Amino acid sequence: MIWILPLLLLAPSARALDSRALTFTSGDKTVLRLTAADLAKRPAARTITIADPIYKKTKTYRAVPLKDLLTAAYGGTWGENALGEVFFDALDGYRSHAKVSVLMNDGGMVVFSDVDVPDWETIPGKGKKPAPFYLVWTGPAQGLKDFPWPWQLVGVKMTILEDEYPKALPKNAAPDSAAVRGWTIFRRSCISCHAMSGDGGTVGPDLNEPRGITRYHGKAHLKSYIKKASSFRHTKMPDFDELENSELNDLMAYFDHMTALAGTK
Ligand code: HEC
Repeated sequence: MIWILPLLLLAPSARALDSRALTFTSGDKTVLRLTAADLAKRPAARTITIADPIYKKTKTYRAVPLKDLLTAAYGGTWGENALGEVFFDALDGYRSHAKVSVLMNDGGMVVFSDVDVPDWETIPGKGKKPAPFYLVWTGPAQGLKDFPWPWQLVGVKMTILEDEYPKALPKNAAPDSAAVRGWTIFRRSCISCHAMSGDGGTVGPDLNEPRGITRYHGKAHLKSYIKKASSFRHTKMPDFDELENSELNDLMAYFDHMTALAGTK
């Protein structure tokens, strides 16, 4: 009887930490795997309070600086990889990426526990919790638009985008062509959810296989859909109100180019 009491006292904090790991890879190799308990033990672990744009309220978390973890995984010179891109894999297939130069900024924190709600809080409108890991930014100008905020984060990969997604590249397109400009928009704003010819995220459909998107949807429709998907459907596809007509035309040129490359109908 006497030994039960200390066990009960320990139980709540043990239950609060998830046993799933965050896996860091380089090429095909796993270079580091850390659980929430491992993160909690790191000397750089700290409590942060932020205005969280995903919950749209103030939240307090336990977190470790992203830079500390990237250095542990990839060594002290990871920031010198000028072409480098870091991919963030989420449980649902969402795959965001950010340039090394962006991640060199201070402020990125990998959250491993929610101090306000021990078993994490459901994100309003998403019906999901951000566990096991959640990347947040503490700087005032480090919002959703310019910095990656992946939740349900389970994997981090250091690579370069051209190596990761070779099939999505607009091969043979002239450097100053509309197709290449469209690719720049696609890799920035779309590839986290959509694959092109098999390479990319899996939240939305592949836009070139088995058929090219511009072959079965008119361009006027596609352009208005991309600008404001929410006016057509209740969907996970975000609105891109900020895209100019010329940018939408560049996306169409990229789609056409990729369809011609693949020889798809
Ligand atoms: C957060 C994820 C996400 C991002 C980012 C995203 N999409 Fe989507 N998209 C989806 C999903 C999910 C669907 C399929 C379901 C739907 O249409 O509601 C979709 C559907 C589409 C469709 C097909 C519509 C149809 O009816 O066949 C097109 C075209 C499209 N997206 C283009 C884009 C482009 C271009 C971008 C970047 C400017 C983009 N998407 C960014 C999630 C995303």
